[in-house]
Amino acid sequence: MYLKLSSGTEIPVEMHKARMVQKIQLPPAERRLTAIEEAGYNTFQLRTRDVFLDMLTDSGTNAMSDNQYAAMMRTDDAYAGSATFYEFAEAVRDVLGYQYVMNVHQGRAAEHLLTKVFAGPGTVIPTNYHFTTTKAHIELTGAVCLEIYTNEALKTQSTFLFKGNMDPQRLRDAIQKYGREKIAFVRMEATANLLGGQPFSMANLKEIIGICNAHGLLTVMDGSLMCENAYLIREREPGYEHKSVAEILKEMCGLVRLFYMSGRKNTSVRGGCIATNEKDLFEKIQPWLPVYEGFFTYGGMSQREIAAMAVGLREMVDPEVAGCAVEQIRYFVKKAVEAGIPVVTPAGGLACHLDAMRFLPQIPQSEYPAGALTAALYLASGIRSMERGTISMDRDKDGNEVFADIELSRIALPRRVYSVSHIEYAIDRICWLYRHRDLVKGLKFVFEPPVLRFFLGKLAALQNWSRDLCEACKEELPDFASEAEEHVLQHA
Ligand code: F0G
Repeated sequence: MYLKLSSGTEIPVEMHKARMVQKIQLPPAERRLTAIEEAGYNTFQLRTRDVFLDMLTDSGTNAMSDNQYAAMMRTDDAYAGSATFYEFAEAVRDVLGYQYVMNVHQGRAAEHLLTKVFAGPGTVIPTNYHFTTTKAHIELTGAVCLEIYTNEALKTQSTFLFKGNMDPQRLRDAIQKYGREKIAFVRMEATANLLGGQPFSMANLKEIIGICNAHGLLTVMDGSLMCENAYLIREREPGYEHKSVAEILKEMCGLVRLFYMSGRKNTSVRGGCIATNEKDLFEKIQPWLPVYEGFFTYGGMSQREIAAMAVGLREMVDPEVAGCAVEQIRYFVKKAVEAGIPVVTPAGGLACHLDAMRFLPQIPQSEYPAGALTAALYLASGIRSMERGTISMDRDKDGNEVFADIELSRIALPRRVYSVSHIEYAIDRICWLYRHRDLVKGLKFVFEPPVLRFFLGKLAALQNWSRDLCEACKEELPDFASEAEEHVLQHA
């Protein structure tokens, strides 16, 4: 909830209290340098013992509620016919409005099943924007991922409120070009993760679905970040200001024929699901579930997580839950903009995204500006963010580098985990880094896996810039936790 202090300052107030906590520490600058070198300048390769604020992702790292933990204690662990699964299915019906549902172990497992069943060589999948795992699964079947976004989508500095929209005319053109029988399905991601957690509008969703229905095309929504999309529709779209997040979400879900989600984000668990109201669609996918995931009533998830997911589904539409990250991000982005830091605007629903090409204009895309910025931010602050730029793009089939449309360092805010003081610290260190941006140079790959290279890849700093940045940190940034640092050093 945004609260106006008597001074007039507005701050996002956490509408929950912490009753279980996890200790964190800030490792000293020298240790951070060793850690990032050992990690190959890839923050995925850092160990949490070396991380102060873990803003890598909001996936599986949110704080669960007391009611979710309570539900985990009361589960039916039956392999087949578990009562817990049926309670989950009831929550899906109530909250999302779908009659048929299957669990999967996480979002990408849903992508695997959907692309296996509906895509294949020669087919095309138009989407408002790709996500890394989605694109990988589409391409693994031999299909093409066709991004159809609006002219505003790639402008990191914008006032356009719905950068997650699909361009209707370009979709019509694509249908004409490829022919409806070549289009496996049309995918709308709510919100568009790699564009900076940017929402689509309900009007756009309706228009896109209208076009698809008129051509008999299958429509799919990736609802991994759907509550933020619904929350932002309520805030930004005329006509929706008096509707509840729950109503808006149900309306979104009612428009598409197939739905899937990673449950690791909005429902704060570790799992996912595929849902629909069309029995025949469901029955096309269902036989593959026990082959790749697990039996029909657990789909690769533990019943404990399914129980927590059922509660999470009901809780996620509470505006205090749906908006908790959105409001912290808005505060974060506003402060960053005021300080002259190049970030993605308008604020979206997932993270504060630094625009690496504007932050580090001296680094060409071939030397991975977003990767360098992500590593530099860790060095300067102990904050783990995520590269979302060219490193997150795999090479094409001829081995050529594919430059990302935008180069971002994503500083994600897991739900109900961090407080305003953590955000203030992050902004302070980002500003410090911006003042020292000339010290940062590029990266080069020293180990590069063939698929989703950002997970396992290892890089090195060009011209040893990380040493220079480390020295500047030691000189200028006061240690605020020297006792903890000693402890870390002793145990490193
Ligand atoms: N779709 C979207 C929009 C996502 O953001 C993610 C995951 C997935 C699908 C895949 O789901 O991880 O459960 O297999 N996003 C995470 C992130 C990894 O950090 O943004 P998953």
